[in-house]
Amino acid sequence: MPNNESLSLDEKASLTSGAGWWNTVAFAGRSIPEITMADGPHGVRYQEADADHLGVGNSAPSTCFPPAVGLGSSWDRELTQRIAVALAHEAQSFGINLLLGPGINIKRSLLCGRNFEYFSEDPLLSAELGVAWVNGLQGEGVGASLKHFAVNNQESERMIVSANVAPRPLQEIYLRAFRRVVTDAKPWTVMCSYNRINGVHASENSWLLTDVLRHDWGFDGAVISDWGAVVDRVKALAAGMDLEMPTSSGQGPAAVASAVRTGALPETLLDQSVQRLITLARISAENARPRTPFDADAHHDLAREAATRSAVLLKNETDLLPLDPTSGQKIAVIGEFARNPRYQGAGSSKVVPTRLDSAWNAISELIDATTGPDASTVHYAPGFTTSESAPSEQSITLLDEAISLAADCDVVVLFLGLPASYESEGFDREHIDLPGEQTALIEAIAAANSRVVVVLSNGAVVRVSGWVDRVPAILESWLLGQAGGSALADLLFGKASPSGKLAETIPLRLEDTPAYLNFPGESRQVEYGEGLFVGYRHYDARKMDVSFPFGHGLSYTTFTYSSPAVRHVGEDIEITLTVRNAGRCTGREIVQAYARTELSRVQRPDRELKGFAVTDDLEPGEAQDLTIVVPRRELEYFDASEEQWLVESLNYRFDLGASSRDIRLSVEIPVTGDPYEPRLDKQSTIRAWFSHPVGGPALRKLLAPVLASVEAEAPAGSNREKAIMGTRLGQLAKFSMVPVNDSQLDALVHSVNS
Ligand code: GLC
Repeated sequence: MPNNESLSLDEKASLTSGAGWWNTVAFAGRSIPEITMADGPHGVRYQEADADHLGVGNSAPSTCFPPAVGLGSSWDRELTQRIAVALAHEAQSFGINLLLGPGINIKRSLLCGRNFEYFSEDPLLSAELGVAWVNGLQGEGVGASLKHFAVNNQESERMIVSANVAPRPLQEIYLRAFRRVVTDAKPWTVMCSYNRINGVHASENSWLLTDVLRHDWGFDGAVISDWGAVVDRVKALAAGMDLEMPTSSGQGPAAVASAVRTGALPETLLDQSVQRLITLARISAENARPRTPFDADAHHDLAREAATRSAVLLKNETDLLPLDPTSGQKIAVIGEFARNPRYQGAGSSKVVPTRLDSAWNAISELIDATTGPDASTVHYAPGFTTSESAPSEQSITLLDEAISLAADCDVVVLFLGLPASYESEGFDREHIDLPGEQTALIEAIAAANSRVVVVLSNGAVVRVSGWVDRVPAILESWLLGQAGGSALADLLFGKASPSGKLAETIPLRLEDTPAYLNFPGESRQVEYGEGLFVGYRHYDARKMDVSFPFGHGLSYTTFTYSSPAVRHVGEDIEITLTVRNAGRCTGREIVQAYARTELSRVQRPDRELKGFAVTDDLEPGEAQDLTIVVPRRELEYFDASEEQWLVESLNYRFDLGASSRDIRLSVEIPVTGDPYEPRLDKQSTIRAWFSHPVGGPALRKLLAPVLASVEAEAPAGSNREKAIMGTRLGQLAKFSMVPVNDSQLDALVHSVNS
């Protein structure tokens, strides 16, 4: 193991900043190799010549898999892992040691411009897919960089905004997925985010980077900064932020070396970071398989399989889908996105695909391959333009052309979505509607033909409530990567059955969303006022209607659930059930398990996702037994007063459903929780003292002379009793009728807490 004793102070300091945009400093003579990194996470963005982190410059062609918004809707751990394996092979082929991903930030607001790059509004789903991604990548010798740590849930003022979050939502919603991935998959690196958390920049937040990440979670890898996220290099190093990226042209290392020389920075802290970086460089070099070619065709096929699993069938009235290519129908394909697909997001994750399938070409090929007298025919019209400089006359012409085609055909497939200019890393959206010309097109086409399928391409949720009732079928296809066009043709014509489920809620309107009144904040502050109630947690607690709930997704077949059972297996809970394909075609189901509790000592969302399982492709009539394991730690809540994770002794009900609002079965099981003895003091209420296993009897003993008379005057449940129970212990010494004084109360507090 190379060590850093042989390095001078300046050499050590130089290791703590990038050598360039994508690489680190090397000391070949001391076996400290260079680390080369590139962006992910849905494709390898390797830049040989250009260097930028904004998706502007060019990059070597690589497979564009479905971005996280799509993959998140697959709910498929195994598929995610296979994609990460493929990404690792591509990274190895370019000589990349570290791929910058996965992004697992929670989708707090639908307006976040970067939601396309994150998995879900729920921490468990984000965690499960994050673990699968890191395991797949690192299993093939390429390091991950879990990002963006932490609470990076908006693009507005992302470099300076302070995300102000209370302890429970911070731990239970925004850090929870990071904790799972760090403990279960051990990413080689974690990338700190740009923003501040409760006033302190992530890059210099020692509570976050050292207390939580290293001491609480046991992370032993290296922390790297987001590009340009370091504000004060010395503070950042002291907080546990090991590697400043990209290069600061010597400024960072000079500041570090100077701080060590003046004693402002203990050299031991520098040595710790340097040792972590040397270890990272060694691991990277040992696992490198430079220039091993990757199979672009096989990866394209995998991208197509993933895209097929990522689309979500929101509605399908009259079983309009799947279309039958041998029905002799005239099929209108309308929409610019059928011809020029939107398939990935903009910004640092943007890659140059090895190839790109359009839905129009794929549908045309599928129909061309259909022989026989009843072969259907397809006809195209753009319907609208994504060019923002198009003259209005052109839009009118395109609309008229589309309407007449729709009127002339048996069925219409309408490809709509968000133009690339509507969403991106670097800025947030102002609204969640489709462009006006597209909603006008829906109305016009629906008036001309009642058999319309809308296919949406968007990186973040769009409002559908304004037009959802105008069309019988909607396929939410998100951004599906380079093979999305072929996948959509397969789904539309029944070569595959949709199986995706919503990883985020589609609300009726933006005003209903949890962060609506607190986004994007002001004066460099954003208050997470919704607390725990993010996504479905909010809509369920407020009993609000939504367009389509979290976890929703239809298939071309149907499924029945039966034989539920639940038991303890060691520390964990094991839920089993049987799922049967009760319909007429092959399909796969994603069963979700939501935990519910009553009588909790703390506020809880109505239900929270605690596990899920995916069936195989089931043939009609075929059944499969599923097992969902809920680890004990998933039952934990974060006790803000005790500042620790605790499992509460409660009866836990698990609702098993096809979505968060389509519950088919439930099981219940009691769980013995962790010892709960909250610290008591004179500020604690009488209620807290009486409900404490030790403090209660002790206080009753002290108050024995007056207890009977007080209970007589204030019987249980009376308003007077409620008032008394809300009294602080310390106040008792001030009541003349209560025979206790301050020193007795101090002695009581001491004896109970010791
Ligand atoms: C960007 C992104 C981060 C990316 C990095 C390098 O600003 O926030 O996700 O990995 O810089 O491009």
